[in-house]
Amino acid sequence: MSSPLFARKPLALLLEEMKGENRLRRILGPIQLTSLGVGAIIGTGIFVLTGQAAHDKAGPALVVSFAVSGLACIFAALCYAEFASMAPVAGSAYTYAYATLGELFAWIIGWDLVLEYTVVSATVAHGWSHYFQDFLGIFGIEIPRALALAPFDYDPAAGRFVSTGATFDLPAVIVTIVITAILVKGIRESATFNTTMVAVKLAVVLLVIGVGAFYVDPANWRPFAPYGWTGVSFFGKTFSGMTDGGGHPLGMLAGAAIIFFAYIGFDSVSTHAEEARDPQRDVPVGIVASLLVCTVLYIAVSAVLTGMVPHDRIDIDAPVSDAFRQVGLPWAQFLISLGALAGITSVLLVMMLSQPRVLLAMARDGMLPPGVFGAVHERYRTPWKSTILTGAVVSVLGGLLPLRILAELTNIGTLLAFAIVCAAVLVMRYVEPGAHRPFRAPLFPWVPILGIATCALLMFSLPVENWWRLGAWLLAGMVIYFGYGRRHSVLAERRKREGGV
Ligand code: ALA
Repeated sequence: MSSPLFARKPLALLLEEMKGENRLRRILGPIQLTSLGVGAIIGTGIFVLTGQAAHDKAGPALVVSFAVSGLACIFAALCYAEFASMAPVAGSAYTYAYATLGELFAWIIGWDLVLEYTVVSATVAHGWSHYFQDFLGIFGIEIPRALALAPFDYDPAAGRFVSTGATFDLPAVIVTIVITAILVKGIRESATFNTTMVAVKLAVVLLVIGVGAFYVDPANWRPFAPYGWTGVSFFGKTFSGMTDGGGHPLGMLAGAAIIFFAYIGFDSVSTHAEEARDPQRDVPVGIVASLLVCTVLYIAVSAVLTGMVPHDRIDIDAPVSDAFRQVGLPWAQFLISLGALAGITSVLLVMMLSQPRVLLAMARDGMLPPGVFGAVHERYRTPWKSTILTGAVVSVLGGLLPLRILAELTNIGTLLAFAIVCAAVLVMRYVEPGAHRPFRAPLFPWVPILGIATCALLMFSLPVENWWRLGAWLLAGMVIYFGYGRRHSVLAERRKREGGV
């Protein structure tokens, strides 16, 4: 394709750029990368959204929802790993798309990743706030309602939005500001902080499984799928499964589409390629290892949780710690709340660390103004301006929008990004069959094809509004691309020079 819209950034150029000035420090090894992956994965999804998913969408079949969602992610992770080994540079899926599908797709996916990382951060900040308030509640402390949650929320029974009587979520805003400050200071500090947090949350997850298993009552698993096994709609028309008061799909697959959120984050390992000591080997290891560890833990936690408490009595704000309160173990509730807080903090850290790095890659390509998004701090060597900008946007979204909306929006955007990465792997094998691939996705072409199919299925299991929101977001992205990126991109500038303009 000769149109500038589909101009591809040559792989050789990507690798050449890695040697230039203004690069980030190479200090991360395989353990730290896997730890960053686990740090990004286990958080609000398992500690908070399991409540809504089990209570409102899937019942005990949530265990299967986790398996289905995990499978979709494993297909996508194998594709990510192939790309990360071929083009071990910052920018993640955005960079891969630039090298394969061309500039327009690269922009679409980069813009989509903004949706993933920024909106995910806002969602996670909300989850943090829920557990923080649960933790304070153990000591009888209550934050005034006006400052405790977003001003409105969706009521699934009524099928419409209702006012909560609050103004904004103060804890969500405060945690975002603190994390932003840590990130501006630097990656070494951030990685150490992350490793500690990851150790704490793994200990808590193992505690939930180990202790909770003794409180499982198999009667709670019956009926296993009270809302059915499906929950798929096509642009608002449910063609398989039950619906809630607002016509949204219910069932095991609808649950999978929500708790997909819990897996988001393994892909963020690829955004640290530039800081990896041996990116071609360690980044694929980090991606696949972190996802596998979390899949196993999630299936175990959801089995224990739905076995401890009947699904209609699972709390939707702090379900895991509340389950231990319900079975009469307040000490465990205390430890779990604390561990969940640590876990969710590390997710927020990695997500807010990843966003500025994607923006940095886009700015280096001239797709975004380099003065802001390409600036690396002289002393800290961090993309400080875009870190602060990301923090500001996250705190506004996290303070004002409800968890449900943020989580669903994140999911549809991320599922699209995963599907595009799978498609790009497919295209790349045909376009550049001879390229050096230190890691290859197995069972080609089935892994990328199944990745696209499962991501699409989960997208259709989300409430239809999310498609309109995604459409509006992509439209806004097109306006920016045609207004700025298309004219300023490095490839466009080069074409102009070569054309003698
Ligand atoms: N997977 C991350 C979480 O659950 C985003 O918080």
